[in-house]
Amino acid sequence: MNKKGLLTLLLACIAWSMVMAGPSSAEYADIVLDNKIESMKKAGVKAVVFPHWFHRIRFKCKACHEDIFILRAGANDINMTKIMEGEFCGRCHNGMTAWEPLYCDRCHSYTGK
Ligand code: HEC
Ligand code: HEC
Ligand code: HEC
Repeated sequence: MNKKGLLTLLLACIAWSMVMAGPSSAEYADIVLDNKIESMKKAGVKAVVFPHWFHRIRFKCKACHEDIFILRAGANDINMTKIMEGEFCGRCHNGMTAWEPLYCDRCHSYTGK
């Protein structure tokens, strides 16, 4: 095989491995938000389940990353005051883009342990 052929093969291998690696499964899965689990327990609500896929198919990544949410599980310091003031989930869950943050159980829905 000549040099050009070798290079083409190499590039093809790299491209293939990138396709196979794919996006991280966390992008598709539900993300559990439980940094504030102690306060949530006290308030009698469960941990939060964020349905990432449900949101991703409706919005571009840019709608949330990284203006609203830092792209790393657990890296966002979220609480209800901020949400009620229109930050984080409250950017959309404000009664306009999406329902208001009054329906606690819709977000605080974690049923695992
Ligand atoms: C409606 C808002 C929203 C949209 C749209 C969105 N994300 Fe996210 N994403 C989040 C939230 C919330 C988290 C969890 C952050 C946390 O745990 O603090 C997250 C987490 C992530 C993570 C980290 C997961 C991990 O386990 O570390 C990745 C990667 C990611 N998003 C990629 C994407 C990509 C790619 C798109 C577009 C195709 C996208 N997101 C669209 C809100 C969104
Ligand atoms: C970029 C806007 C946006 C942001 C930010 C956002 N949401 Fe949503 N969310 C929506 C919209 C739009 C819907 C659909 C509302 C409807 O059906 O009326 C929705 C629906 C949901 C649902 C219901 C899903 C279903 O299966 O019906 C849950 C749960 C939810 N959001 C949780 C969250 C949580 C938790 C956060 C913050 C971590 C968040 N959302 C941030 C726009 C957003
Ligand atoms: C739109 C989604 C959403 C709704 C609706 C919602 N929450 Fe939350 N809540 C969150 C998120 C996200 C966090 C941060 C979780 C974390 O990072 O640990 C949170 C955190 C909390 C916390 C711990 C932090 C703090 O502010 O003290 C309490 C307590 C809480 N929520 C109570 C409630 C109650 C009570 C309701 C109903 C009136 C409610 N939440 C409705 C998404 C929501």
